Parts: sequence; C-alpha cells; structure tokens
Amino acid sequence: RGFATAKQPVRVAVTGASGQIGYSLLFRIASGEMLGKDQPVILQLLELPAALNSLKGVSMELNDCAFPLLHGIVQTDDVNKAFEGADYALLVGAKPRSKGMERGDLLKANAQIFSAQGKAINSNANKDVKVLIVGNPANTNAMITSHFAPKISPRNIHAMMRLDHNRGISQLAERTGAKVDDITNFAVWGNHSATQYPDVTFTKINGKDAKSVINDDKWIVENFIPTVQQRGAAIIAARGLSSAASAAGAAIDHMHDWALGTNGSWTSFGVPSEGKYGIDKNVWFGFPVTATKGDYSVVEGLKLDEFAKERLAITEKELKGEREAIAALLD
Ligand code: NAD
Ligand code: LMR
Repeated sequence: RGFATAKQPVRVAVTGASGQIGYSLLFRIASGEMLGKDQPVILQLLELPAALNSLKGVSMELNDCAFPLLHGIVQTDDVNKAFEGADYALLVGAKPRSKGMERGDLLKANAQIFSAQGKAINSNANKDVKVLIVGNPANTNAMITSHFAPKISPRNIHAMMRLDHNRGISQLAERTGAKVDDITNFAVWGNHSATQYPDVTFTKINGKDAKSVINDDKWIVENFIPTVQQRGAAIIAARGLSSAASAAGAAIDHMHDWALGTNGSWTSFGVPSEGKYGIDKNVWFGFPVTATKGDYSVVEGLKLDEFAKERLAITEKELKGEREAIAALLD
C-alpha cells in the first residue's frame, strides 16, 4: 500500500456506475488493475438522477477502501461533466437484456443513450480519449457513439469482445486441462452476440495446434462454438440477471491491454472495420488484434477457411442489419 508515484492522475469516466457491472468494475479500476499499479485515477461517475443516491453509497465504499491510487471521485447526472477532460471512458450504462429478450429489442432504446453520450464525449473529453462500449448491443452502440463524436478517431472507440474471448479461453482450458495462459492466438470475430465466431483455427495450446490437441472437430462445432455464443443467455437463465463481475473483468482486461500492450499476443477487440478480411467498412467488428501502448493492429494475413468465411458472413450480416435498424438516428 501507499507506495510513492510520480505519475499525474488520469480521468476515467464510467457511465451506469452504480449498476451491477459498475459495482465490480470501479473497485478494480481504483486498485490499479486496469491502468497499472503506478497510475493514479480520478473517477468521473455518471448515473441517472434516480440512481444518484445509490451512487453516493458506492462512492462512500470506494473511499472506505482507502485506495492509494484513487485521487478523486466525481458523481454526477450531467453527461458533459462526466466526460470533462476524460482520458478513458467506459460506457456501461444501458438497459440490460432480461430473461427471454433478444438483443435486437434493446437496439433502439439504447441507441438514444449512445448518441447523447457520443456528443458529450466529442465536446468534453480529451481528443485522444480511449472509449470502451460495454452497454449492449455493444458493437452498434460503438458505431453510434463514433458517429456523434467526429473529433475522436473511430479507432479510439471500441466495442467489448473480451468477455467472449475470455469465455472461449476458459472453455478450452477446461476441455484440455491446459492453463489459460498456455492458450494463445484465440480470436472472436464479429458481433458480441450469438452470431459471433469463436475461432480456434490459429490457436496454440502450449505451442501445439489447438485443433490437434482437442482432436475432436465435432466438439468444436457442436459444443464449443455454441457454448461461447450462448454464454450470455446461459448466465441470464442461471442468475436471473446478466453477467456482471465477468463483464467487469473483461472491461478491465480490454483497457489494460489497450493502454499497456499485449506483448505480441492476440486478444479480440471490437473495432471499426477498415475492410480487412472483406468485412464491410463502418461496422464495429470483433477482430484478432495485438496492441502496443495505446494503439492496436488487426492481425493480418490469416488464411480463412470456408467454414470461417461462412461464419464471418453471418455475423457481418447481423451487424449490417443493426446498422440499418438505427440508420434514421444517424442524421
Ligand atoms: P444494470 O441495470 O445493473 O446497471 C446499468 C446502470 O446504468 C443502472 O444503474 C442505470 O441507472 C444506469 N443507466 C441507464 N441509463 C443510463 C444513462 N443514460 N446514463 C447513465 N447511466 C445510465 O446493468 P448492468 O448489469 O450493469 O449492465 C449494463 C450494460 O452492460 C447492459 O447493457 C448489459 O447488457 C451490458 N453488458 C455487456 C456485456 C458485454 O460483454 N459487452 C456483458 C454484460 C453486460
Ligand atoms: C453477456 O454476454 O453476458 C452480456 O452481453 C449480456 C447479454 O445480454 O448477453
């Protein structure tokens, strides 16, 4: 505790801060797990007016942890104040999907939130702010946010695919008995939805080809892929609420790797398509990426087989459909 640090604090905006994900996320940001144990933070927390009292309670608990890296907390229901000078922004606040609801139903309700927040980011945040969209439907919300934040590079507005990525790695570890750290070059392509394509084609387990270690293609197609695709719904069915601590963990991992780098290893980011792998430009698509301090590159030159091409076409089609559904909002 309490080691000396010379770094200036950075401003981290979090929306929906007193929700389920927020309750796990904020404590981990404040403890230094996201940006490093030497990086002080000021938390700028946005909530709806009705949740400000609950936010006050969460802020009291944050203070009660006496985190050495927590240099301040702003609590507000004013979207402009929340993003003022923000270096990082985690857009969590949205209506979550409830039991039996399809993600498409959420599209229009949540689109309003992200257009307003895009505008506020554009006017108030640092121009190199790094934005992670967690609120669903995350990929299309990222596209909307970017549309309304023209001063911010689209490359700086990401949709979260990391929960899917972590779910895939965990399933592979369980199946093969490997440790999660022994599994590399795994990727989740496409939408953060049931059409995503969790891809083990290039994956290595302890340096060996994952497909030969698993040695059961039927399990990959009939068990692994649907389990990862449907995991969000399975958590909702089991808990009666959507995933929260694991979603917060994935947001921490995404921002950590984006800010500090992946040391050459792959992760999955939902980023604006620049046409690589034939994916339509201007949809936010999960790609395998590597990141170096504050920037990322989509992994290039992968040879996609017919199965992968089919899967990518399905998830791309869904994203184009989501874009169509909110097109009128983008004026
Ligand atoms: P929650 O309902 O517990 O919390 C959401 C919070 O956001 C609430 O406190 C609410 O008051 C607040 N909020 C709503 N509209 C807001 C606005 N306009 N401005 C500021 N705050 C606002 O929900 P949760 O479980 O924390 O989930 C939040 C979102 O994250 C949902 O959209 C959920 O579907 C999504 N999610 C995404 C992933 C992913 O992998 N991308 C994983 C899990 C959950
Ligand atoms: C998840 O993947 O757990 C979340 O996106 C929640 C959902 O609605 O699936």
